Amino acid sequence: MNKKIILSGIQPSGELCIGNYLGALKQWNILQDKYESIFLVVDMHALTVDQVPSDLRQRCLSFVAQYIACGIDPDKSIIAMQSHVHEHVELMWVLNSLCYLGELNRMTQFKDKSKDKKNVNVGLFTYPVLMASDILLYQADLVPVGADQKQHLELSRDLAIRFNYKYSDTFKIPEPFIPESGARIMSLQDPLKKMSKSDSNLNNIIALLDSNAIIKKKINRAVTDSGSEIKYSEDKPGLSNLIDIYTSLTNEKIEDVEQKYIGKMYSVLKKDLIEIIIDFLGPIKEEYTKIISDKAYLAEVLSDGSEKASFKARRTLSKVYRKVGFVKK
Ligand code: TYM
Repeated sequence: MNKKIILSGIQPSGELCIGNYLGALKQWNILQDKYESIFLVVDMHALTVDQVPSDLRQRCLSFVAQYIACGIDPDKSIIAMQSHVHEHVELMWVLNSLCYLGELNRMTQFKDKSKDKKNVNVGLFTYPVLMASDILLYQADLVPVGADQKQHLELSRDLAIRFNYKYSDTFKIPEPFIPESGARIMSLQDPLKKMSKSDSNLNNIIALLDSNAIIKKKINRAVTDSGSEIKYSEDKPGLSNLIDIYTSLTNEKIEDVEQKYIGKMYSVLKKDLIEIIIDFLGPIKEEYTKIISDKAYLAEVLSDGSEKASFKARRTLSKVYRKVGFVKK
């Protein structure tokens, strides 16, 4: 029997952070053993925010190396650069013509990202349609993402259903896969907003490549709440976020962690959390250093990945072009 397919991607802006790991990469790592897997560095999405071209190029390669260092195995999974597979934007155009303005206007991420901006580019607005084409192009069954991508996933499903209804069955309807723990890691300084790799205040995030000294400094400075009891609760968002990071990295239960720290101070939990993060990221950083210096290996992974991805993408796109009524080349 054919394996089911998973597809996911990360936008190469800012620095990959522990939120991206817990919400996405950790799940990819587990799921790649069971599913046919495609993991993209979505560089075209990154153009919706201002980029320095040479930095973007470097960051894209760095993200590929970080995927592999986090356990994504190019022998098991396809790792590809979105811009290497031109079918993404071609399918996007077809889906653009099926998507309503009202649907995109309702996207909360667009509202957040365009807030306080003088000029909002059209790419930022139509971004969710490109994401839908990423997913539908590979006939993905499952899309492992953090909680913030749920609304985008719903749009992908709606567009697939609409296309299938209008032109006959073509796309699989993808399901989101949002982990129970770690789906929404919050900012260290402002635990009411999510930890974001493109945050301009780096004290808000733990980057996967942060040095041990920086990790220590950031966790020690992380906002906690008044009171002293180590208890996971809505009125302690700062502390609860640290407990979330703790339990997601150790796979312990929240109740067990609460139990372990009865009568102890916040500083004890922070000290242990620093150790947990340092121990966890150490091997990833070590592996990353080896991979990033091997440019030939990275080029080979990407060329192999884009060839395999393009093959799959072509199959779906030619079906789509036929269904919408384009003349065969
Ligand atoms: P991006 O690049 O913002 O985030 C990449 C992945 O990390 C998850 N994530 C988090 N999870 C937990 N806590 C957090 N604080 C946190 N911050 C981010 C995101 O949910 C995501 O899974 N639009 C997507 C990229 C994309 C994509 C796709 C994803 C483009 N095409 C197709 C899946 C399938 C994005 O900007 O994610």
